[in-house]
Formats: sequence, C-alpha cells, structure tokens
Amino acid sequence: MMLHIHSTPTTTACALVAHILKQIGEHPDRMFNIAFSGGSTPAVMFDVWAHHFVDVTPWRNINFWWVDERCVPPHDPESNFGLMDKLLLSVVPVPPSNVFRIHGEADPQQEAARYAALVKEHLPQQEGCPVFDMVLLGVGSDGHTSSIFPGQTHLLSSPHTYEVSVNPHTKQKRIALTGNPIIHAAQVVFLATGEDKAKVCYDLYTSDNGSPSAYVAHRANAVELFTDTAGAALITSDEKGG
Ligand code: 6PG
Repeated sequence: MMLHIHSTPTTTACALVAHILKQIGEHPDRMFNIAFSGGSTPAVMFDVWAHHFVDVTPWRNINFWWVDERCVPPHDPESNFGLMDKLLLSVVPVPPSNVFRIHGEADPQQEAARYAALVKEHLPQQEGCPVFDMVLLGVGSDGHTSSIFPGQTHLLSSPHTYEVSVNPHTKQKRIALTGNPIIHAAQVVFLATGEDKAKVCYDLYTSDNGSPSAYVAHRANAVELFTDTAGAALITSDEKGG
C-alpha cells in the first residue's frame, strides 16, 4: 500500500486529483472508468477539482461511476450523487452521458441489478468481474468502506457486482459495490483525513484486521492511501518508534 501524506485535507485533495489525472493521462486513447464514494471527506476533493483542475482535466475521457449510494432521491442532502453534482459535476464541462448515477430513489434490489448490468456493459471484465480503472474509497471509523459495514461479510464475497446493504446505525438502505469488483480494480485509492481517521488509517495501513476496508485493502491489486498529517499521526509515530 502506497502512503501519501500531505499537510491538510485541502493539500491532500490536491495531491489526489493530480494523482487521478496522472492515471487518466496514461490512457489518453480510451475512457477512464472511475467509481467515487460519498460521505463528507470527498467534498474537499470535488471542490478543489472544480476550482483548480478544470482546464487540465480531459472531461470527455472520464466515466463517472459511484461506489455506493444512499437510497434517497438525488437532491436529498444524504445523496452521494447530489454532493458531487453540487460541488463538481454541475460546474465543469463533463458530458452528461459520462455520468452514471445510481438511482437512489428506485427500488433498491432492482437498482442494484440495473446498475450492475450497466457497469458490466461499459467496463472490461476479468474473471467475470468488471474492472474499474480506479475505485475511490472512504473509510468509516468502524472500518466500513463502500457501504459494507463490519459483519456484512456476504457483501465482501458476493458474486453480484452491487448489492443492497443497510447502515446498521441508521437502518438506511444503500446500494453498494461489493468486495470482488473493488479487489479486481486496477487501482484502489483510499481518501481519509483528519484526526478522527488516525486510528482507522493506522489499522488499514498496518494489518488486515478483518474490517471491510482492511479486507479489500490487503487483497486489491494496487492500493494507495491518501491522508493528511492528522490522519497519519499514528502511522508516523509508529514508524518513528513513538
Ligand atoms: C458513504 C460512503 C462511505 C464513506 C465512509 C466515510 O456513502 O457514506 O461511501 O463509505 O466513505 O462512511 O465517510 P466520511 O467521509 O463522511 O467520514
């Protein structure tokens, strides 16, 4: 796992967007399929991307997919699409046909199946599994990622690309990318910043403790962890023998 530490959430977000653009630049002759997580952490990245990288982003070469979505309408404050649309997609020249929204307002089981079929239609396959060029993941303080929460091991080994999950804390239904397509992605990138992510970043980086985020992190092809000084505090103190 490659570790990228920057001073603040904003400088970390800038470094991550630059990293994404570098990966896209390595495939100038084809679409780049990238799946985004939601939650609050990526908001800084969307904002930085919209304000500092618009003119250097090949918007027509990028397909925007989602790792997960809350089962709410797109303009609901909880919507992962809604967050990205407000901060990024509505203010940059990305072709609408390149944006593949999970329909959070639809029947969850039907939408999980519809979206999985759409992904399979657009992405190359490997061992029967769609291969994203990049999967951007957040991580909850309980070690969840995508919307796969501790104990939901069936979602890590599911034969289905997307499944319906439930947030055990709020009982909110989610549509979630499952373990295998995450592990099969060309690259998995975690973005986790702030002191409240220090413990989970340390756990993620140092061991496979069985949490969903650790499970995928220690099985995926290529994994990068982008964090800030606060998020890396336990890692760097450990490496210094602190
Ligand atoms: C979601 C996300 C989820 C998120 C983590 C971290 O829909 O909530 O995809 O997996 O990445 O919960 O969330 P924060 O960035 O808000 O800490």
